[in-house]
Amino acid sequence: MVPFLLGAPHPAGKRLVNFQKCIRTGDIEEVGDKVHLTLFEMLGNWSIGDYFKEHAIKYSFEFLTSKEWLGLDLNKLAFTVFAGNENAPFDEEAYNTWLSLGVSPNKIAKLEANWWGPAGTTGPCGPDTEMFYWTGSEPTPEIFDPENPLWVEIWNDVFMQYNKNADGTVNELPNKNVDTGMGVERTTAILEGVNDNYQSSIWSDVIALIEKISNLSYEGHEKEMRIIADHLRTSVFISADPSGIKPSNTDQGYILRRLIRRSIRYAKNLNIDINSNWEEEIALLIISKYSKYYTELETNKEVVLSVLLNEKIKFNRTLEKGLREF
Ligand code: GLY
Repeated sequence: MVPFLLGAPHPAGKRLVNFQKCIRTGDIEEVGDKVHLTLFEMLGNWSIGDYFKEHAIKYSFEFLTSKEWLGLDLNKLAFTVFAGNENAPFDEEAYNTWLSLGVSPNKIAKLEANWWGPAGTTGPCGPDTEMFYWTGSEPTPEIFDPENPLWVEIWNDVFMQYNKNADGTVNELPNKNVDTGMGVERTTAILEGVNDNYQSSIWSDVIALIEKISNLSYEGHEKEMRIIADHLRTSVFISADPSGIKPSNTDQGYILRRLIRRSIRYAKNLNIDINSNWEEEIALLIISKYSKYYTELETNKEVVLSVLLNEKIKFNRTLEKGLREF
């Protein structure tokens, strides 16, 4: 998208929508709770030099709260905006737009962290405004505390109005762009009224299969089952990607290796027979769920299965060697 954000015309126009597979390597250790994932599907809306901050926020507000769309309770929503720093000012326009829509100032936090990009060291970047939903069972707190994990981020509107230069300075872009991203898994869980992502319809069949394979119930083994489900889904998507990433000890390959090995470790914790084809069964279910939209999963099915099997064999050898030395 970078050339278009910098001003080149996009062949499909100035208003785009998409869905994206997004990998969050920074969240590997977080997975195991109710909301974190190493891969999520992001629903994107893009304005390439068309509508900007005020309209993006109004559209987001309408989509979240209108009965015609998601119909979420405004009382359960909270927002963050960019507080400003030495590079760019406080995002007063975003703040005032939320206020104009009836949002209480108690539900808007000003944070310096509300800044997106650039992807890499230079390029388009800018302030963002994030939308959170209250997932606690007790009544929604009067004052939004962004540190409280029961406030779950579901959507982010990024305002790409700057370009970061190699010397660290930023200058205004000729085009003002919007890049919004909504988390499909988290939003689905909220719409289905479950406060655990992994109990939504997106995950329930994968969790049920892990229950069957391990002969254990989800209750009491949530952490292990969430990690196995999440890490195997991400491993399937990475292995199927046309970029051809394979497990290794560096860069992307290391992420893949780490995800597969972590899922094996947690499968061992559930006493799953590692030498059975448990990982293949789970991978095939994931492939069948997603290949309609991500066709590379079906095309590269054999690659995925052999990546998982080979890594399992290698990891088993490493474990045996380690145990012997110990
Ligand atoms: N595309 C919006 C985001 O990455 O948050």
